[in-house]
Parts: sequence; structure tokens; C-alpha cells
Amino acid sequence: MSKSESKNSGSNILLLMSGSIACSKASSLVSAWTKHGSEVRVACTRSVAEFIGHAELADLGARMVFDNVFTPGHEMEHISLGKWADIIIAAPATSNLINKLSAGIADDAVSTVWQAAYGRGIPMVIVPAMNTRMWRYPATRESVRRLKRWGIHVLPVGKGQLACGEHGEGRMLEPAEILETVERLLAFDQKKTGKRVLVTAGGTRETIDSVRYIGNMSSGRTAARLTEELIAAGHELTWLGAEDAIRPASVERMVSYYSFADLEARLRELLGSGIYDVVIHAAAVSDFSLASIETSRGDVLENLRGKLSSESDLLLRLKKNPKLLNQLKSWSRNPSLMVIGFKLTDTDDLQQRIAAVRKQLDHPQIDAVVHNDLSEIGHEAHPFQLYAPMREPVHCADGEALAKTINKLMETAP
Ligand SMILES: Cc1cc2nc3c(=O)[nH]c(=O)nc-3n(C[C@H](O)[C@H](O)[C@H](O)COP(=O)(O)O)c2cc1C
Repeated sequence: MSKSESKNSGSNILLLMSGSIACSKASSLVSAWTKHGSEVRVACTRSVAEFIGHAELADLGARMVFDNVFTPGHEMEHISLGKWADIIIAAPATSNLINKLSAGIADDAVSTVWQAAYGRGIPMVIVPAMNTRMWRYPATRESVRRLKRWGIHVLPVGKGQLACGEHGEGRMLEPAEILETVERLLAFDQKKTGKRVLVTAGGTRETIDSVRYIGNMSSGRTAARLTEELIAAGHELTWLGAEDAIRPASVERMVSYYSFADLEARLRELLGSGIYDVVIHAAAVSDFSLASIETSRGDVLENLRGKLSSESDLLLRLKKNPKLLNQLKSWSRNPSLMVIGFKLTDTDDLQQRIAAVRKQLDHPQIDAVVHNDLSEIGHEAHPFQLYAPMREPVHCADGEALAKTINKLMETAP
């Protein structure tokens, strides 16, 4: 049976269990997946044995249960299980496990398998189960945020009667909801296009002193939207964003930058080391960096650490930055890199808007330009126009429509 024929059919599913009263609920997942034709293997923390036995898991259809990294004859299982799996689901995930995974601790079978599998590009899912206060504990909140930032799917918790007798949030999702999520993630995985896209986001900040900077108003909203939509279309995304930019909900790789120089360095590194097919350069890059600061008496201030005095006038000398957009292809290991830039105009005159876009599009290193006029910006959703050589401009009503148009354009990328 091929993978696309039925629900999860033919998939290798690795279930990681940790010590919760929800273990028996999670174990019903094993038989459901097995019935659908998947092979299920299970790795357990030691405390799982207090809730459910190996024999029970094997009866449900688990081909193998792994709970000790040092089992003779299975010394490499902590690596091979992650390589074997098409998807990894930690269910139930205790607060202990969630906090360990976010802290990088690998001291048992489950946390070691998890770490060794991360970065393989397979979906990794966490299904939390715990008491309400454990769920709200600051370390747990922070760990969930971190894990999500690393592209891990942390599912929500349910609300209701808890095993401890209390009422509140922290219940593990029902097996049917977990099965549905896994099915969706596996279906999505099969639709992966293999195209690698780098999206830049947010605005640069040029430091004046330790507390001041020159910045711009870019929020990163459009880039976050594009990133999410292009992930949903099956592409592999890297988000390179300003530290304060709006972040996409889930992305495999996130890299942050601060200043123009920092962004340039990150772009050179990423394009030079990985093979990207497309760059969508939505970041608002400062046209100027600070060259020097002079006092009103003409003295050039050397040490810009700490806080500059506000007692007298200062002269900030700015130097023009080169256009990063025009250099991306030359930094790329992939000579066929598709470069999509953004052009913001500030004029009512349509001809002037088109001329500004054409000027950017005429550059040999740029393949397409997304245009906005300042008058259109400021609302949650605003329109865009996408220009590419030899094509009619495409009007896109919002970020979602823009992502669809870019996705179509990417189909033409080699
Ligand atoms: C009856 C019982 C139920 C428990 N249920 C949970 C739970 O649902 N979530 C949780 O985070 N911890 C729960 N615990 C506590 C964990 O089992 C404990 O923190 C353990 O050290 C977790 O280890 P592990 O993450 O390595 O499995 C429970 C403990 C007991 C005795």
C-alpha cells in the first residue's frame, strides 16, 4: 500500500511516552496507527513503567519499545530510531520532559532520541499533559515558546477534570484530535516540494550609543504571513528576521539580525553555505549606517559605549549603504537563485510608481519586485502588486494572495 492511499498508511511513527496518568490514553494511539497500516515504535522514560507495561504496548501493536540507551545490542538505537521515523510524537509529554527538551538535556532514552532526530526535517510533535499549575509554571511557558520557535508542533492542552481531581487546563488532547493532527502533518510532509526559500523580515537598527538607534517602522507582518503560507504550500523555509519583528507561527529555521552589517553577514553566510532556490527580501534595510558623531565644536566622538550626553547638539554623519538586494545572487552557491525584492514608493503618480519598480527590476540580479505605495500601508491587510519581466503585473489583495502569486512564480524557478 502506498503512503498516499490511506490515513498514515505505511508511515513509520515513533511515539515517545513520559510518565503521566495519560499514558493509557496515549497507548490507544498505537493500535489506531497500526490498524491504518503504519509501523509504530515506542520509546519511554523510566517512569512510564509506573503507568503502563512493555507487554501492553506490544499487544497494542508497537513493534519495539525502547527505554534504555545502554541496552546491550541496541547502543545505536537512540540515533537509528530518529532516522527510521517519518514523524515523532511525544505523548503524553510531562512538564519534566518539555522543560528537558527545551534545555537540551539528553539523559534518558526519550530525550536522547528526540535530540538526535531534531533537524532531520521530519515533523516533531509534543502533546502536553499535566496539572494546571505545572502547565502555567513560568519555565514550562518559556519552554513551550522556545520549542515552537524551533519549529516543533506543540499541541494545545484541553480543559476539564484533571487526574488529580482538580478542574482546569492541562488535560492531554483526546486521541482522535492527536490522530487528526498526525494525519495532517504526514499528508503535508508528502506534499513537500523540496524548494528552499529564505525570507528576510523586519527592519535594521543602526546603533548610535548603548541606548539609542536609528530604525524604521517595518513590523515584519508581511514576511511572517508569506513564511507561513509558503510553508503550507510545502516549501522549506528559513526566516531571517529582526529581533523585534513579528515571527511566523512555525518555521524550521529562524535566524535573527540586528543592524545592516549584521544582516549582510547573515545573508552571506546563509546563501554561501546552504543551497537556496528563492530569496524573498522583505526586510526594510537602512539606506544609511552611522559613520561618525561630532560635537557642535567639531570633536569626533570615539567611544560610543554608554549613553551620549544630551546637553548639547550632536552631528550624526551617515554613510550610504550598498543595496543588499543587488548582491544576493553573487553571494549564492546556487547560480539559479531567484531573487524577489520589495519596492515601496510614495507618490500618487502611477507612472512614477511603475518607473521606480522598473528601475529595480532592470537590475540583472533581480527576478521579481513586489510593489507597495506608502498610501496603501498601515492597515492589517493591504494590497500588493507583483512585477516580473515578460509578465503582466499581478494585483494581490493581501499577503495570502501575494504568497499564492509568488508560489506560482516559484514553479518557474529551475
Ligand atoms: C499518578 C501520577 C500521575 C502523574 N501525571 C503527570 C502528568 O500528567 N504530567 C506531568 O507532567 N507529570 C505527572 N506526574 C509526575 C511525573 O511522573 C514526574 O514528574 C516524573 O518525574 C516525570 O518523569 P519523565 O518525564 O521522565 O517521565 C505524575 C505522577 C504520578 C505519580
